[in-house]
Formats: sequence, structure tokens, C-alpha cells
Amino acid sequence: MKEKLQKIREEAIRQMQEATTLDKLNDIRVAYLGKKGELTSVLKGMKDVPAEERPMVGQFVNEARTAIEEKLDEIKKDMEKKALDLRLKSETIDVTLPAKKSNLGHRHPNTIALEEVERIFVGMGYEVVEGPEVEYDYYNFEALNIPANHPAKDEQDTFYINDKIVLRTQTSSVQVHEMEKGKLPIRMLAPGRVFRADEVDATHSPSFHQIEGLVIDKNITFADLKGTLEVFAQELFGKETKVKFRPHHFPFTEPSAEMDVTCFKCGGKGCRMCKGSGWIEILGCGMVHPRVLEMRGIDTNEYQGFAFGVGLERIALLKYEIDDMRLMYENDERFLKQF
Ligand code: DAH
Repeated sequence: MKEKLQKIREEAIRQMQEATTLDKLNDIRVAYLGKKGELTSVLKGMKDVPAEERPMVGQFVNEARTAIEEKLDEIKKDMEKKALDLRLKSETIDVTLPAKKSNLGHRHPNTIALEEVERIFVGMGYEVVEGPEVEYDYYNFEALNIPANHPAKDEQDTFYINDKIVLRTQTSSVQVHEMEKGKLPIRMLAPGRVFRADEVDATHSPSFHQIEGLVIDKNITFADLKGTLEVFAQELFGKETKVKFRPHHFPFTEPSAEMDVTCFKCGGKGCRMCKGSGWIEILGCGMVHPRVLEMRGIDTNEYQGFAFGVGLERIALLKYEIDDMRLMYENDERFLKQF
């Protein structure tokens, strides 16, 4: 009996030492110490043991049981510790590793320039409004005093949707919508996309952006136009900037002008930026043509106005010294990142 118990004990311990998982270890515990386990069945066989030997056998059984239990405990603790070690090791964070780079978006140079222009004019009491990109040709041309056979219609090669509807070639069309609302005075700034059937090159694109300005009020003169646009130029390009107005022609303004600013790169001495002239052309402007006001039923004896149109890309290209307009539309991250 003693030998049998010894064998059971050795076999149990051997199996436990070979066990690789806690589950297996538990199976072994059940197999030896469980209700139907081997040690238990020895205990059940005690009735066949002569009475005088029972205490001794009982003691052996208990010893075997204790030994198995102790070993079981030891191996279990060891396994748990190893599992914990493994987990700690696999979950350690190497704080010396370089951090993952998170890519932040950037505002487009057009957006930055537009916000700057809006800030300046909103500060002078202008309201920012929008008009439709798909437009009746009436709003794009006739209502702006550009008759059907006017050469300006060819100049601004127009995308036609049908014979009445176009993609607007200029934000000047928003002037008409604003006047149609019937509320005076008007101080509006209308930024937006315009379209022209142009080939793509460093300075042209079939779709670009303009910012239109319109003021209609009593006693508005060319001096108001000049003063306003001078402030605009100095806010945008620096206090030392000078402006110059050259006579020009636009059908919807009379008189009309183009405004140049002193080159902000060389200060007017002449450089590559201003092609040696010291001046850079910035925008078109003029006093709103009486016929444009009359078509909207505005009394030209009482009200006058001035208007201007700026190319947004042109401003952004100049301000950030970008020499190719195509860069503005390619959305190349390496380009956009720089602003
Ligand atoms: N619409 C003109 C263009 O696209 C720009 C312009 C010139 C707008 C003079 C104006 C203006 O409001 O007064 O070339």
C-alpha cells in the first residue's frame, strides 16, 4: 500500500511538472485529488485494510495528498508568475521610440488670402455675400451693360450651359443680385469662383476666384473709391505701399481704372517681381455706370457707387511669391504645407 501511494505521488508530481497550462494542471488535480481521483479511491479502499494498519495508511494518504497539493500550488504560482512576466514584457512601452507623426491640415493660400481681404473690408463695414456660379447670361453680361454683341463677351471666353445660362465669368454678376434685393445703401464684398474657357498655364486657369466689391450710397465719389482701395492696399501689403490709378475700360463702370501698387518686394525700385517697373497691377475698379444703376431702378441723381474686382489667386500668388498658378490647384501636400 505504501509503495502504491508512493507511485501515485511520484506520477502525479511528474505529470504536474510536465503540465504547460493552468488548465492541464487543473485536470491533473482532479485526476488525483478529485472525488473520483486516484487518492480518493485509495481512501475508499480503507475498509479492506486491516484495522491496525489503517492509521498508518491514513497518514500515508494524507502525506501524499499534502505533497501533491504543495507541488500543485508551487507549479501554479510559477506558471502565473511566468504568464505575468510575459505580459508585462510584451506590454512595455518604449518611451524612447519616436512618436507617430500626426498630419495636421493646412489652410490653402487662397483661403488665407481671402480671409485677410475679408478682414480688411469687414472692418470698413462691408458685408460678405455670395451669388450663384451657374448664372443667367443676363446677370453676367447685359445687366452689367455688356450688350450681346459686345467684344467683352468674346474676351471672357464663356462656358455656356445653354443659350441663356452660363458659368459666370466674373463675380460682377453678384452686384446685380445685390442691387435687386432693393436695399440701400450697399457695402458688399462677394468672393467666389469664376470660369473662363482658358488654357491652363502659369497665369491662367479655366476656373479661378475673384472678390467683387460694391458700394452704393449717397454722395459717393471717385475719392471714396481711391481712399478705400488705398487703405485696402496698405493693409494687405504694408503701410508704406503707394497706389496709382490708370484709366481703363470696363462696360459696367464709368470712369474705369486699374489700380497698381508699389512693388512690396523692392519698394518700387524695380525687380524681378514687378518686372522692373516698380509697380504691380492689382485690380480693376470704377464708378458704377449710371446705366447699371438705372436698370435696377436706382435713382442716379440721389445714389452713386463704386465697384472693384480683385483676382484672389493673383493676390495669393503675389503675397506668397508663388510663381505658378497651377500649384494652387494641385493640392500637393508639399506645397500646401508651406503656408
Ligand atoms: N469683372 C472684371 C473682370 O473680371 C473686374 C472688375 C473691374 C470688377 C472693374 C469691377 C470693376 O467691379 O469695377 O475683369
